Amino acid sequence: MHVPLSRPYKTEEAIDYIKDVLSSPYVSSGPYINRFEESIKKVSGARYAVSCSSGTAALHILIKSLNIGENDDVITTPFSFIATSNVILYEGANPVFCDVEERHLNLSYDRVKDCIEKDYAWKNGKLQNKHTGRILQAIMPVHIYGYPAYMKGFKDLAQRYGLKIIEDAAEAFGSYIYIDGKKQMAGTIGDAGVYAFYANKQITTGEGGVIVTGERKIMDDALSLRNQGRSLSSKWLIHERIGYNYRMSALNAALGLSQVEHLPKVIEKRRSAFYRYNQLLGDIDEIELFTEEDHVKTNWFVYIIRFKKAELRDKVATYLKEKGIETRPYFDPPLHLQPAYRKILPYKEGDFPISEDASRRVLALPFFTGIKEEEQIYVSKTLKEAIGKLL
Ligand SMILES: Cc1ncc(COP(=O)(O)O)c(C=O)c1O
Repeated sequence: MHVPLSRPYKTEEAIDYIKDVLSSPYVSSGPYINRFEESIKKVSGARYAVSCSSGTAALHILIKSLNIGENDDVITTPFSFIATSNVILYEGANPVFCDVEERHLNLSYDRVKDCIEKDYAWKNGKLQNKHTGRILQAIMPVHIYGYPAYMKGFKDLAQRYGLKIIEDAAEAFGSYIYIDGKKQMAGTIGDAGVYAFYANKQITTGEGGVIVTGERKIMDDALSLRNQGRSLSSKWLIHERIGYNYRMSALNAALGLSQVEHLPKVIEKRRSAFYRYNQLLGDIDEIELFTEEDHVKTNWFVYIIRFKKAELRDKVATYLKEKGIETRPYFDPPLHLQPAYRKILPYKEGDFPISEDASRRVLALPFFTGIKEEEQIYVSKTLKEAIGKLL
């Protein structure tokens, strides 16, 4: 049996919606963009939604629209996909990594608090780095694997220190957090957030992303920045700032719309596949499984196991591959040890021990909305067989 790591979710309506776009004059922009953005607003509860050509483009626009640039710091996690910190670097700003917490591998509130208290001091109403002179502008938590980060804590810090919060919710569309009894979708709690819709995500547009925010100014800037710096009021060939072509096409939006309408079903399918794996794998002593706390409801992006002994991980992955099962060491290496960053950032091995340790021990198993019970049984049985043989 071949079991892929991921398989995109598709719905019957997709063909009708895409045909509808093709039979209209509006294949680039047009009504489907609006319909897709409205559907995102409706399900996420965000006031504004701005679709973009990718999650990376959406994050980049947010960095720009918050005026984060040279001589600015943004605190984020080293345990993420590289786009999270690349967008900070695109603008000449500096990613300041803080380690993750052990349990869910999200940015650690305690590490962020320590870092701010130790390395920054007030200057002219701003937090200035005592060593580099840079100004701390924002915290960018990532809801890694779709599991919501500790937003209540980050909001408190942001309020206390006058910082912005950009949520990288690329992996967390449809994940919820209960804060003070109120259920909120991850991505809608900070000043702005981003969902991504690559083929392996809970909902896909092929390629695409969306900014969600409650702030009018962020939305206005995002609309202009994604559209070559045009403003809504100016003519098509008048550009009021240097912008980008970061627009989503109507074809992608139609695909997305056909999926967003199914979100509750997608969430339930992914959650039951997650718990089925937890049941099937719960008796393996050599691995640790992720679980969910009461204050969150996760639309899991991936299914991760954590080996107790790092040496076993790659051997098991090779064994599974021979048996037709795709896996990925998601994320190895952590960002501060990426070749591209070793050349330009001052970090070294040992700086973020929890991220580094997790990187050596995690493995993503096949997991997607339509995964079949027999596929999960085959993966679990083969994983047990591998561990039995390789121990
Ligand atoms: C945490 C995180 N941030 C950002 C991105 C970038 O999204 P995209 O691939 O749509 O540019 C991804 C994509 O996988 C991601 O996982």
